[in-house]
Amino acid sequence: MQVIQSVGQMQQFSENMRTQGKKIAFVPTMGFLHEGHLSLIDYGRKNADVLIISVFVNPTQFGEGEDFQEYPRDLVRDCEIARKARVDVVFVPEVLEMYPKDFQTYVTVESLSQPLCGAFRPGHFRGVTTVVAKLFNIVKPHIAIFGKKDFQQWVIIRKMVKDLNLDIEVIGLPTVREHDGLAMSSRNSYLTKEERDSALSLYQSLNMAKDMVASGERNVSQIVCKIKDFILSKPYTKIEYVKICSPDTLEDMETLEDKALLAMAVKIGKTRLIDNTLLEVAKEKANATDHVKIQNP
Ligand code: PAJ
Repeated sequence: MQVIQSVGQMQQFSENMRTQGKKIAFVPTMGFLHEGHLSLIDYGRKNADVLIISVFVNPTQFGEGEDFQEYPRDLVRDCEIARKARVDVVFVPEVLEMYPKDFQTYVTVESLSQPLCGAFRPGHFRGVTTVVAKLFNIVKPHIAIFGKKDFQQWVIIRKMVKDLNLDIEVIGLPTVREHDGLAMSSRNSYLTKEERDSALSLYQSLNMAKDMVASGERNVSQIVCKIKDFILSKPYTKIEYVKICSPDTLEDMETLEDKALLAMAVKIGKTRLIDNTLLEVAKEKANATDHVKIQNP
């Protein structure tokens, strides 16, 4: 396994692979790798000839007062995990090479970046799309793999790739969870034992919503109210948003339609966590009783 720091070297490596006719898979990360990242890495290993991951805590996607400085970092551990997962290259660029002093070009996916997390983290997705566009130009992958734990991010990246005609296949994979359902996240390392107990309310509330839908509830505000009450009944919780929206356009829904995204962001103490699930109401036949099928994204 190689660890490459320089942009030029990374581009040269990928160009060489491409001229040899090799298929390149890419998993962008901010490091502090966990099983969620590993599921993307495993997919890349199985579906390409060359597997590249990046570890880069991207300053432009953190707002003022957010946790850029504190974000957990452990490159030695990440490289060890990557080596065991048979990653070919870990790309670890320097902030100053990615963003030199005179940097002034940004990529923005307009509407999709506005709702949900975009409403609470202004500029966040502009930072994400900018760094991912840069990483795509540096790593030159054929396929790029993302987690649907960050569902909005995945939708936005897909849109960027389509709108800019990037010749890259974007894959979205399901959320990997701890044994008790907590979505894996590098930020879970911030949680105290008591906070972690409260953090479980996100996953539990996704299941509550599924149960409500299964028993025929179609009113979005009823579901959202019940979820908010449940989460707020736990200590240390502060809700940023709980929304049910179209999984394609991310626009709010009033009544559950055949497919809906339930997404939430909740602060547990100082730690901001997100989670989501897809609620699916499958109609067997016109006028037939609703048959409810639930899917994890
Ligand atoms: P990071 O939070 O490190 O996540 C890297 C990738 O892992 C993302 O595609 C994310 O959705 C996925 N991921 C995280 N937790 C997961 C889980 N529990 N199950 C499945 N996939 C999971 O997302 C970012 O970094 C950054 O925004 C990045 C895309 C690298 C741009 O800076």
